[in-house]
Amino acid sequence: MLINGTQYRSVWWEDDCLCMIDQNKLPFEFSIVRLETFQQVAEAIRHMTVRGAPAIGAAGAYGLAMAARVAPDGSFRSFIREAKEFLASTRPTAIDLYNALEFVYDEVLKFIPNYDHARQVALLSAEDFVRDSAAECLALGEHGADLIEDGDRILTHCNAGALATVDWGTALSPIRLAHRQGKKIFVYVDETRPRFQGARLTAFELEQEGIPHAIITDAAAGYFFWKREIDLVIVGADRICLNGDIANKIGTYEKAVLAKEHKVPFWVAAPLSTFDLNCPSGEKIPIEYRDETEIKQYNGQALSNPGSSALNPGFDITPADYITGIITPKGVFLPKEASQKVQI
Ligand code: MRU
Repeated sequence: MLINGTQYRSVWWEDDCLCMIDQNKLPFEFSIVRLETFQQVAEAIRHMTVRGAPAIGAAGAYGLAMAARVAPDGSFRSFIREAKEFLASTRPTAIDLYNALEFVYDEVLKFIPNYDHARQVALLSAEDFVRDSAAECLALGEHGADLIEDGDRILTHCNAGALATVDWGTALSPIRLAHRQGKKIFVYVDETRPRFQGARLTAFELEQEGIPHAIITDAAAGYFFWKREIDLVIVGADRICLNGDIANKIGTYEKAVLAKEHKVPFWVAAPLSTFDLNCPSGEKIPIEYRDETEIKQYNGQALSNPGSSALNPGFDITPADYITGIITPKGVFLPKEASQKVQI
C-alpha cells in the first residue's frame, strides 16, 4: 500500500524483528513498532496494534517463528505448541490467525528433531504465508474489480483494506483496482463504532489512493440505501463457514439486511485463510466480546453515562442468504458453494 508516496505492508520481517504499522495511532500519527518476542506479538494482536483477519494471521505466523527461535531443544515441541495456543488465544473470531499458526506449526513439526532446521523452516513458512496472503488479496481484487462498474457508489464497513491484510486488502482490493482501471467510483465508509476502523483506517487508505469517498455514521447507511445512492456493498470477513455464513465486524449483518431489502448486491471478499472448513454454520463461530470501555470512552474521555454498563460484541454473523457472492482469489462463488470451490 502507498503511504505518503512510500510502499508499505501492514507487517514485515526486518533485522530479526517483526515490524508493523501501529494501527491504533493512524491516521493521526504514522509510527512503526518493532517486536522482538512472541509475547510482544501476542500483546500487539490483543491490543489491536495490528488488526484485520489476514493481518493478524501474518503477525501470528511470524510470532510462532519467533517462539521457535527461543524454544529449547529439550522441550521444543511442547514449547511451540504452547506458544501457538497463547498466540491463538489473543483474538477468537478471525480464523486466519488459527490457520496461519497451524500452517507454520505443521511445517515445523516435520523437521523435529533437527531443531536448527525447524527454526529456519518456521520463519520460511511464516514468509510463505505472508507472500501467499498478499498475492491472494491481489487476485481476489482482480476478480472483484469486474463486479464494479464505472460510476458505482459502493458501501463498505470497518477496514478491510491493506492495513487489515498483508497488502491490497479484501473489500478494498477490488475497489483499489477498479479505481486504478479508471472507473469513477465513490465509496461510502461506515465509521464503524466503537473503534472507528472505517473513519480512521479505511478513510485514510482511500485518501492515500485518491479514491473519492465520504465517512458516514453507522446509522446513516439506511438513509443512503433509501435514496438509492448505494449500488453495491463490499465487506471483508473474519470467518467463512461451510454453509456460506460469515462473521465480520459488528454492524455488517444490518447492512446485509438493508442491501437485501433494497435489492443491492452484497459481496464478501476474502482470501483462502478466512475459510473455516471445520465450521458448519455461523452459530458455531465464537464471537469476541471486547471491553466495555471501548464503547463508554474514547481516548480516555467519557462518552456515556458512567453508571451504565455496555455490551461490546466485536463481530456479528451474516447468514449466507443475505450474501450475493464471495469474492475469492479463485473466482467469485455463491456463498453456499464457496468453501468447496476454493478447495478445488
Ligand atoms: O476488529 P478488527 O478491526 O480486527 O476487525 C476487522 C474486520 O472485521 C474486517 O472487516 C475483517 O478482518 C475482514 S477484512 C480483512
